[in-house]
Amino acid sequence: MNTLLMIKPEVVEKGLFGEIISIILRNRFTVAKMIMFTFDKKQAERFYDIHKEREFFPSLIEYITSGPVVALELQGEDAIRRLRDLVGSTDPCKAAPGTIRYVYGSSIQANAVHASDSPEAAKKELAIVFSGF
Ligand code: CMP
Repeated sequence: MNTLLMIKPEVVEKGLFGEIISIILRNRFTVAKMIMFTFDKKQAERFYDIHKEREFFPSLIEYITSGPVVALELQGEDAIRRLRDLVGSTDPCKAAPGTIRYVYGSSIQANAVHASDSPEAAKKELAIVFSGF
């Protein structure tokens, strides 16, 4: 099952997304699709709808729509689990050394990347991001 990696606005803005793509390729994922785009509010609210009751939801939507993201559809053996391991914990302070969020994350919100956490989430998120491609 393919999965989604989304490189978030602060990393794209700093010009560091190439470093993250290199890490992905060195870890034997294959890039099936890749796109740079800016979420509109509706699309972001759909993407993150499981968090809509959380107090951080408005701030999350403002942040994720603040600039371009780079999204990759990744394939590879056990891709969902392997990508989650490589990405690390949501909170960069709790992420294991060597993980993407440990290296590139700056706060629980600005945590560098998003990775789908289940086959259902991957299916939904890939459909939202790559609709029409
Ligand atoms: P992500 O893996 O993209 O999934 C949901 C996002 O919400 C998460 O990464 C963070 O960017 C953000 N998030 C999660 N928990 C919090 C929190 N406690 N405060 C602010 N933002 C959060």
